[in-house]
Amino acid sequence: MSRSIVFALYYTSVVAQSVQHLGVSCIGSTQQCGPRGGIGDGAHPVLTAQSFITDALLSTTPNSTRQLASGPPPVLIQALPSSTSSCTPRRDIIIDTANGAQQEMVGFGHAWTDSTVSVFNTLDNATLAQVLEDLFGQSGNNMGFMRHTIGSSDLSGEQYTYDDNGPSFNEGEPDLDLSHFSIEPYGSAMAGMIAKMGAVKGDVFLFGSPWSYPGWTKFNDLFIAPNLNVPNGGSYNILNNSFNPAFILQMVTYFSKYIDAFRSHGVQVNGLTPMNEPLNYQGGYPCMYLSDVDAANLIAQGLGQAMHDRGVIIMAYDHNTDQPVYPARVVLGTGGEGALTDAAAWHCYASPVANYSVMSDFKTMFPNTLQFMTECSNYLPQSGTWNFEVASNFIPPVTHGASGAAMWVTATDESYGPHSPYGGCAGCLGSIVVNSSNTYTRTNDYYMVGQFSRFVRRGAVNYQVLGEGNEGDARGANQFYTMAVQNPDGSFAVVMMNNWGSDQDVVLEIGQGHWQGTVPNGTVTTWLIPAEALWWDQGQNATGTYNSTQGGAGGSVSTSAVCATTASSSSQSTTSTTALEPVLDTTHTIASVITTVMGRRKHVA
Ligand SMILES: *[C@@H]1O[C@H](CO)[C@@H](O)[C@H](O)[C@H]1NC(C)=O
Ligand SMILES: *[C@@H]1O[C@H](CO)[C@@H](O)[C@H](O)[C@H]1NC(C)=O
Ligand SMILES: *[C@@H]1O[C@H](CO)[C@@H](O)[C@H](O)[C@H]1NC(C)=O
Ligand SMILES: *[C@@H]1O[C@H](CO)[C@@H](O)[C@H](O)[C@H]1NC(C)=O
Ligand SMILES: *[C@@H]1O[C@H](CO)[C@@H](O)[C@H](O)[C@H]1NC(C)=O
Ligand SMILES: *[C@@H]1O[C@H](CO)[C@@H](O)[C@H](O)[C@H]1NC(C)=O
Ligand SMILES: *[C@@H]1O[C@H](CO)[C@@H](O)[C@H](O)[C@H]1NC(C)=O
Ligand SMILES: *[C@@H]1O[C@H](CO)[C@@H](O)[C@H](O)[C@H]1NC(C)=O
Repeated sequence: MSRSIVFALYYTSVVAQSVQHLGVSCIGSTQQCGPRGGIGDGAHPVLTAQSFITDALLSTTPNSTRQLASGPPPVLIQALPSSTSSCTPRRDIIIDTANGAQQEMVGFGHAWTDSTVSVFNTLDNATLAQVLEDLFGQSGNNMGFMRHTIGSSDLSGEQYTYDDNGPSFNEGEPDLDLSHFSIEPYGSAMAGMIAKMGAVKGDVFLFGSPWSYPGWTKFNDLFIAPNLNVPNGGSYNILNNSFNPAFILQMVTYFSKYIDAFRSHGVQVNGLTPMNEPLNYQGGYPCMYLSDVDAANLIAQGLGQAMHDRGVIIMAYDHNTDQPVYPARVVLGTGGEGALTDAAAWHCYASPVANYSVMSDFKTMFPNTLQFMTECSNYLPQSGTWNFEVASNFIPPVTHGASGAAMWVTATDESYGPHSPYGGCAGCLGSIVVNSSNTYTRTNDYYMVGQFSRFVRRGAVNYQVLGEGNEGDARGANQFYTMAVQNPDGSFAVVMMNNWGSDQDVVLEIGQGHWQGTVPNGTVTTWLIPAEALWWDQGQNATGTYNSTQGGAGGSVSTSAVCATTASSSSQSTTSTTALEPVLDTTHTIASVITTVMGRRKHVA
C-alpha cells in the first residue's frame, strides 16, 4: 500500500480533540513561521523501523549509559509467536488502529523561567546557539510545547510582577488604569530569549502562566474598607493571598498588555493559564489563591474574549489531579464547552502520586476540550537511582487524553538556580545545567524528554493502547507504560517505559503487522514503525528495508508459530549497556574559536 493511501486512511479518521485551530509562535518576518517539522512529518518520513533507548539509571560514570542511543530495531515478524510454556514470557501490546484514534498532539517540552533566561544570557553567542539547537532544533530535542512564567516564579532570583506599582513585590498601590504596567527588565529579557527560540523553531506552542497577580489585586483583610471590596491604601503586606475580584477589569488589561508587549518583542503567545497552581497560596515565593468561581468570572468577564481576540487559548486550572472539579467548574462557568475555556491543564504533584485517570473522566464530560500536563519536575535526583519522572508523567497523561506535556524548569546554574530565597523549589533539575560561558550539561531529563519530543510531531494522532501496554502500580516499580501516536507521514512512534525490573520481550500488534523486540530493563524506549510496513504482512527483508510498492500483495508467508526471538534480550539482561551506541558526552563544551562556524551552519538546516 502506498504512503498516500495510508495517509488517506488515517486522515479521514475522526479525531476528538483537533489541534488545527492552534496558532504558531511566529509573527511577520521576525521569525521563521510554520511547522519546521522533523522525523515523522511528510518531508522526513520514517522509512525503516528504528529504536532509541535512554537508560533511566543516573549514572555515576560518564558515558556508561544509553542516551537516545539507537538500539536494535523491532522486527516485523511473519507469524505471531506462540505463547506456549516453552517460550520466554512476552508482553503483547495492541495498538487499536481500527477504533482507537484519540486526541491530536501538540508536543512536549519544558518551561522558560527567569533562571533559564539568566543562565542562557551568560553563554557566549555560539554556545547559546548550540544549546537552542539542542533544545529546539531538528538535530536536537525539537521541543514543540513550551511554557513560560509571567512575572516571577520560585525559579526567579527576584520577586516581581509586571505592575507592582510600589516599593516591591506585593507592596504596591492599586494601579487602576495599569499606567505603571511594564515587562522591564525581566519580562523583556524573557521575550528576547523566547524570540531566539522562535528563530530556531517557528512552530513551538507557547503558553504563559503567572505565579501571582500584582499584590494590590489581592485581599488583605487588615486594609479592606468596610463594604467595599477595594483596599483603602496603606501597607499591602499580604495576609490573605487571594485574588480580589474587584480587580477583574484590571487583570483583563494586565494580561492583554502582556500579550501585546511580548508581540512587540516578536513573540506570539498561544495559550494562557490564568493562574499557576491556583489552590497553592502559602509559599513564601510568589503564589496566589484563585478560586474556580473567580477564575470563571475573570474569564467570562473579559479575559476569555481578550485572549481569543489575540489568538491565545484559555487553559484552565494548571494544578494537581486531586481537585478535578476545578477545571470542570471553570468550563461550565464560562459558557460551557467550545465557548471561552479551551483546555484543562494538570500538574503531577498530587500526593502520593498523580491519578491521571481523572483526565479520562474530564474527557468524557468535555470530549472536545484539549488537555495538557503542564508541570512536573525532578527534585534533587541522586546518582545511582532510576529516573522515570519524565516518562511516568508524560505517558499516562497522553493515554488519558493530553495533547502535550511539559516538564518544569528548562535550565539552571549548577546550584539549581537562580531561585527564590523565600521558598519554592531549591532542587528542581532542568534539561540543561549551565556550567560556564561556553560549557553546559545535558541532564538525563534532556534525553528522557527527547524520547518524546524528537519523535512525536505536531498533529500526530494518539491511539489507544490495549493488551499489556499499560500495567502496574503507579506508586512504585512494576510499571510498564506505552503510548503510540501516528505521525503526519503515517508512521507510528511508540514510546515505552520499562520500570518492570527486567527486560521485556514485546510483541506489538499494529496495523496488520506484528513487531517483536526487547525493551531493556530500566529504560525508556521509542520505536518508529514505517508507514509502508503497517499493512504489509510479508516481513522485513534481510537488509532491513521495506519495498513500498509491494504492499500486502502476494508472496508466501510463514504461518508456523515460533517463540519470540530472545537474542537481543539475553545479551542485554546481563548488562544493560552492551548495546551502547553513540557514546555521548553529557557535557557540551564549545571552544569559542570554532563556534562562529557552527553557529552559521545551523541556519542551513
Ligand atoms: C552576540 O549576539 C548579539 C545579539 O545578536 C550581538 O549584538 C553581538 O554582537 C554578538 N556578539 C558577538 C561577539 O558576536
Ligand atoms: C481571604 O479573604 C477573603 C475575602 O475576605 C475570604 O473569603 C477568604 O476566606 C480569605 N482567605 C483566607 C485564606 O483567609
Ligand atoms: C483515580 O481516579 C479514579 C476516578 O477517575 C478513581 O476511580 C480511582 O479510584 C482513583 N485511583 C486511586 C488510586 O485513587
Ligand atoms: C556542570 O555541572 C553539572 C551539575 O553540577 C556537573 O554534573 C558537571 O560535572 C559540570 N560540568 C563541568 C564541566 O563542570
Ligand atoms: C534490572 O535493573 C536493576 C537495576 O539495575 C537490577 O537491580 C535488576 O537486577 C535488573 N533486572 C534484571 C532481570 O536484569
Ligand atoms: C530488500 O532491500 C534491498 C535494499 O534496499 C532492495 O534492493 C531489495 O529489493 C529488497 N527486497 C525486497 C524483496 O523487498
Ligand atoms: C518491489 O516489489 C515489487 C513487487 O514484488 C517488485 O516488482 C519490485 O521490483 C520491487 N522493488 C524493489 C526495489 O525491490
Ligand atoms: C564520552 O564520550 C565522548 C564522545 O565519544 C568523548 O569525547 C568523551 O571523552 C567521553 N568522556 C569520558 C569521560 O569518557
